[in-house]
Order: sequence, then structure tokens, then C-alpha cells
Amino acid sequence: MATEIAPPSTADIVSVLTLQHERARALLADLHESVAVVAELTGDMVGPFRDLVQLLVAHEAAEELVVWPALRTALEEGRLAGDCMAEEHQVKHLLAKLEKMAPGFFEFPHALAEFEAKLLAHAEHEEQSVLPILEQRVSPDKRRELGGNFLYAAAAAPSHAHAHSSESAVGNVVLGPVLATIDRVRDAVRSLIRRRGSA
Ligand SMILES: [Fe+2]
Ligand SMILES: [Fe+2]
Repeated sequence: MATEIAPPSTADIVSVLTLQHERARALLADLHESVAVVAELTGDMVGPFRDLVQLLVAHEAAEELVVWPALRTALEEGRLAGDCMAEEHQVKHLLAKLEKMAPGFFEFPHALAEFEAKLLAHAEHEEQSVLPILEQRVSPDKRRELGGNFLYAAAAAPSHAHAHSSESAVGNVVLGPVLATIDRVRDAVRSLIRRRGSA
């Protein structure tokens, strides 16, 4: 899925991250609209929610593998990387909370709103602090290399998530335990990137 939303010719890490953030915002808007109308998981909501979980699982795992190490070591922005990772930790826990919630449960809209606020603030923080640093202090060649690694990592992620998904019922449409999925994806993709780097 991640490969569908990034143009193949523009693998600059800044464009890739921006496009995925925009996609997450669009999915949230779809989902939010549906929740506002009907406080239960309808057929219309299933797609956006599943897509949002897939996108975020891949996106955050790839950032953790590709963007934060570059920020920490090459750019000596360890504190910013740490702040972003702490925000992601909160986002992932809110996503896990949503996942556990029965879709028709009356608290779902509230939990979704809480998650949405946190995710949007996190994306904005990255866009205002991380992307300008990448743009100003990383060469175009290096940005393309990071972008390529990011897309490689993100493209590898959904197949792992799918393996643990359950689509047998509307209430189980999400992709298994989100936190465990992100950990599995990260571990699996890390070795793929290492192999890619040494090829
Ligand atoms: Fe992030
Ligand atoms: Fe991001």
C-alpha cells in the first residue's frame, strides 16, 4: 500500500514523508466524518480505518528505522528524534486502544478524536521541525537514499501486518495487536534494510 501513495520518481525523503502525512490526514477525515454521522463501525468506515492502521504501522516503523537514526547520528539531533519517538509511542498506544474497542462502543468516537488530535500534532511537529532539517542539512542524494530506504521499509511492512490480520468480522477488521505488529515489522524490516545496504 505504501508504494501506491508515493510517486516512484520522487523518492526524496521529505516528499515521501509529506505525502504519507497527507494520506493519513485524508483517511482520518474520511473516518472522522463517518463517526460523526453514525457512532458505529459501518461498512464505509471499515476501509479507511484498516487503511489508516496499515499506513501508520508501515510509516512509523520506517521512520524509526530510517529517519530517526539519520537525525540522531548524522545530524546530531538526538533530542528531536527522542521527542518524536515519544510522541509516536503515545500515538501507537492510542491506536492500540482504538483497536481493542468494540467498534459500536459509544466511546469509540471519543477515543478516535483523542487519537486524531495526537496524530495530527505529531505530524505537524515532524513537518515543522524534522522536515526543514532534512531539507536544509541533508544533500539531495542522501535524501533520495533515505527516501528509497523508507519506501523499502514501508513496502515490506503491510505484508507482515496482513499475516496477523483478522477480517472475519467488522469488529476484528484491524490488524491484530498494533503494538506487537509494529515491533514485528520493525525487526523484520531492519534486517531487510541491512541486507539492502550491503548489496
Ligand atoms: Fe512519526
Ligand atoms: Fe511521520
